[in-house]
Order: sequence, then C-alpha cells, then structure tokens
Amino acid sequence: MFYGGDYNPEQWPEEVQEEDVALMREAGVTAVTVGVFAWSRLEPSEGEYDFAWLDRVLDRLHDGGIEVVLATPTASPPPWFTLAHPAGLPVNADGVRLTHGSRDTYCVSSPEYRAAALRIAGELGRRYARHPALAMWHVHNEYGTDCRCDLTAAAFRTWLEKRHGSLAALNEAWTTAFWSQRYSDWAQIMPPRATQYLPNPAHVLDFRRFLSDSFLDAFVSQRDLLRTFDPSIPITTNFVQGDWVSVDHARWAEEVDLVAVDHYPDSAGMSAEEQTAFAGDLARSWGGGRWLLMETAPNLIYTPGRMHAKEPGRMIRHSLGYVARGSAGAMYFQWRQPLGGAELFHSAMVPHAGPDSPVFREAVSLGRILENLPPLGDPPRSEVAVTWDAQSWWALQGAGLPSADIDYAAAVRQAHRALYRAGVPTDFVFPGLPLDLDPYRMVVAPHLYLVSDRAADAFQQFVAAGGHLVTGALSGIAEPSTRVIPGGYPGAFREASGVRVTEWHPLDPATPIALDDGSAAHGWSERVELAGATAWARYAGGVLDGEPAITRQEFGRGVFWYVSAGLDDESWRRLLGVVAAEAGVSPLVPDLPPGVEAIRRGSLLFLLNHSSSEFRGIAAGSFAVVEGQGWKALR
Ligand code: GAL
Repeated sequence: MFYGGDYNPEQWPEEVQEEDVALMREAGVTAVTVGVFAWSRLEPSEGEYDFAWLDRVLDRLHDGGIEVVLATPTASPPPWFTLAHPAGLPVNADGVRLTHGSRDTYCVSSPEYRAAALRIAGELGRRYARHPALAMWHVHNEYGTDCRCDLTAAAFRTWLEKRHGSLAALNEAWTTAFWSQRYSDWAQIMPPRATQYLPNPAHVLDFRRFLSDSFLDAFVSQRDLLRTFDPSIPITTNFVQGDWVSVDHARWAEEVDLVAVDHYPDSAGMSAEEQTAFAGDLARSWGGGRWLLMETAPNLIYTPGRMHAKEPGRMIRHSLGYVARGSAGAMYFQWRQPLGGAELFHSAMVPHAGPDSPVFREAVSLGRILENLPPLGDPPRSEVAVTWDAQSWWALQGAGLPSADIDYAAAVRQAHRALYRAGVPTDFVFPGLPLDLDPYRMVVAPHLYLVSDRAADAFQQFVAAGGHLVTGALSGIAEPSTRVIPGGYPGAFREASGVRVTEWHPLDPATPIALDDGSAAHGWSERVELAGATAWARYAGGVLDGEPAITRQEFGRGVFWYVSAGLDDESWRRLLGVVAAEAGVSPLVPDLPPGVEAIRRGSLLFLLNHSSSEFRGIAAGSFAVVEGQGWKALR
C-alpha cells in the first residue's frame, strides 16, 4: 500500500527533514515521491552533479522505514539548460519560443533536450537503482508539453510518412483537395500553427497522435535506460488528463509497469465524488485492474476562479474510493506546503499551519485506516462498460464542428454518472485498442465519433451475440482519418442500429426540448429515419415534432439503442436503468440512498456515505468496510 505524497526536501533547510520523517511515521506514510522538479538542484550546471543531499534524503527515509518513488526531474529543465540549448525550448502555435520561469519548458523532439534528459536519468539510475529505499521509478511528470518548432516539424513528417506510407495517401486521408492544401513534398507539411481561418481537422488530429507517440518515445527511452541498472524496479510515469493533454493513455498503459494517475476533482459536493469514481474506474480499466493514485489534493485545490477546500472526512472518503477501485494506495500532492513558489497555497498533508491542523490530523487517521484494511483482493470485472476514446475526444475538439457545445469528455462523464447514480459498477473499454467485449452485458458508447472497421465489427458482434449497446449522437460518423462515412449517420453502425440520420439540428443548450416519454433534452437533436429500428421515444414539439428521438433495434441476440437527443442527467439515468434491466444488470447493492456509494474489491465491500444523513449506522461523511454480503447485517 503506497501512502504518502510528493516530497520536496530541496525546498527546505535540512533540519526540517528530521521532523518530516517523524511526522511521516506518525501519519503512517509508507512511500514518498522524491525529486520530481529537482533538476536544477541535482545538476546545478551542465554536467556538474550534486547528489550528496539526495543521498542523505534517501538514507534518512530508509532509516525511517519509508520507501521512495524516485522521479527523474526531466519535466523542468533548469535555466542553464534553456540558455545553452534554446532549441530545447517549446515553440507555441503562434511561433513564440517559450522560456524558463515556469515548468515543463521542453521539446521532446529536440535532440539536446533528449540527451540532457537521458544524462540526468542515467546518473540517477546508476546511483540509486540499488538503494534499499527505492520502490519505483517515476519518469518525468505529466508528459504533455506541446511544441511546434522546426525540429518538431521534421519529426512530425517522419511520423506521417510512417503512418500514411505515401503523400498520395496523406492527401486522401486529409482531404487536401479542400482549400488547395494538396502537398507535393513532405517538406511542405508543418505542425498546425497559427493560420488564417479554420485548420484542417485531419492535420490537427494527426498532430495530436504524433505528440502522444513522441512523448511515449521520450518516456520509453528513459524507462529502457533505467531498466538496465536494475530490471526488478517497476517504472511508471504519472498520467494527467485535461483537454490540452495529447496522450493516449489507453495505449501508454501497455508501456508502464504500473498505471499511475494524478486526479484533482474540480468541484465540490457530489460532483467531486462522481469525478473520483470516474477517474478510478478509468484508471483501473487502463491498468487492467491495478493502478496507483499518484497525486491528489489533501485540501485546497486549484479550480478556475477560486480554490475550494475539502470538508472534513472527504480526504479519507476519496482515498478509500480510489483504493476500492483498485488503486495500490493513495498519494498526495504534496507532503509539506511550500513557503513560496508558484503553488504556495496548494494544500499539503503538512500545511503552513503545521501538524497541529485538521488536514494533518485527517492524514494521520487515513494512515491508520489504510494500515488496518483487511487484505485487498482484485476489483471484480463489471458487467457494464463505457467507451473512452482519446482520438474521438481530440477530433471533437476540432474546429468546423456543428456546435461549440459538443464536449466528448462531458458526454462520457454523463454516461458514467448515470450508471454511478444507479449504483451499477462500470469499467471502461478503449475502441482504439483491440476490443474484448465478451465480459460485458451492456456497453455505452457516447460520442464515439471515429470508428475503425475493426471496432465497428467488434460492436456489431457484441450486439449480435446478445449484448446491449447504447450509442447515439455524434457516433459512428467518421473513419480514423476523420473522413465521414457517407450514406447517413451513424455510418459505422447503420446496419446494427437500424436507423439512418439525415440531418443534425444543434440547439441552444439553454432551450430544453421534450420527448414523448417524459425525457428532457437540450443542446442536440437529429432527424432520424427508421430503417428497421422502432421508436422508443419521439420528439414532442419543435421542427422534429413526432420524429424518432430514441430508437431500439433487436439485432441478432442483442439490442442496439440509438439516442439522438442530448438527454439530461435524469433522462439518461432512467434510460440506462431500462437498458440495464433488459440486459440483466443490477446494482451492486440494491436501494442505496442517494449519496451512498458501494464498491467491491475482492471480498470487501466499501460503503462510502457522502450524504448528510446516517445510513445503517454509518455516520454522514463516514464509511464502512465490510466482508462479503456483510452490509446486510448493518443496522
Ligand atoms: C499536478 C502536478 C503537480 C502539481 C499539482 C497541483 O498536475 O503534477 O506538480 O502541480 O498538479 O495540483
């Protein structure tokens, strides 16, 4: 069980470390992440190293019985690097070369940056691979810096040649006949940079794919180097999510020894619990069952406009939520709150107020709870899966789409939330990888915009074999190249869905539309022709009055549902409840009141009471961990 957080002793006088280790022991901390942003301290000038302080940190932690997740510091090149090697700095889409002053100022396509990164990683590997405190390598931090410099342009062209094989194939895939963009030489292709009007969506999407592969290449080169020093030490890097991140985590998951995820819910109340469940289910599915929460906030967290605080008990409940969903522990950003620097008010396990504080007391309680958990088995596989497809997400962030309100991640979150609220355990599946849908009775595929032939076949076979598939708006539209599948939407799923969509009617999200089964929708509607399916619900009012809105088709031994309207949360919950019942899927624990969450891991059932009322002896804001069906015995 990993319990601890990012530890930055380089920010403090050495005496503080004695207190740190004593407090870590008091809190039951088992591991800390060291060195994430310590490059300028470890290599104060090019090729000159200072490891003595880190030796003492690792020795002291080891003496205190605390393990170390040792980071390579390559996310934050020091000022000397950026001055000596300006080509290693990122250039943004406007052609502006960034400089140091923040963090993550690097370009993974720069040979100078890559060489410097491998050099410091190699020095760390040589020196610490056999240190008794070392539990895991943590390469870099949250890969994601987007660079559009000339070196990146050259690397992008090489990547494109490999992907497309020929310029003719690229021209076809990118539809360069539109707006006279036909390329007659690879050298003409640039990374997407500031341009006059809408960029070519296929160009933009390929660039994001390229970035994901380039970051992965940078990770793999450090990983392979570190492995040469001691292959038994697991190696990971922390995944981060956000609209800006060009990392296809499902693919990356195959390259790390343990999936590690940073997760910061960006709101308070039940939304934070729902986000926690979403992140935990996604990470568990990336990791094939096992993963590690590498960072979250113990208390105040940066959110747009204003930080919000976690109320007492939430740090514990969130951590248990992640652990119940398969995390090998709970790690925080950060151990001790810094007195300066850009994130000086971001929360920590030891805050500015010191250990005599609610957050440290909660950290101590959490340590006891984690220490005393019975042995944890594996999380069981769910009977329901939701699709997560990074490439459809990126494609739906492009320009030229029919509505600025299209939000892939929000659509997937909404589907997951509906299942969460219905108490139905949920996995994620990744259509960009070979799909194994056999374990599932029901799959929900929101906004699955890009669909390969292979994925389309897998979904069709899933339904034919008895599965229940729910998809709809903006799904099955285009091939992975982004070229539309003609003949009516949802092109890739036309046969199995039994519908043919001939027109989209984007709507103002503020204007609700009604369906005749009582469902409410907003933001999106479509003209749906029945081509075998039957109408489950029809539009009531507006231009589409009386036209099918939700359809159902029996296909083979299963059922294909098509949802054309942007349903609200309650309507999604009701519809998915109907589908789940038909599919023979039931909640993990029946009849839980809102705000009470049940999660199974091995033989243990975690019951988290996020509500403000007591539930069967579990106080508001508290939790219980019971064996097997033990919840039935709770009063
Ligand atoms: C993470 C990052 C940490 C810290 C944290 C603040 O994304 O890895 O270094 O910045 O966010 O929430």
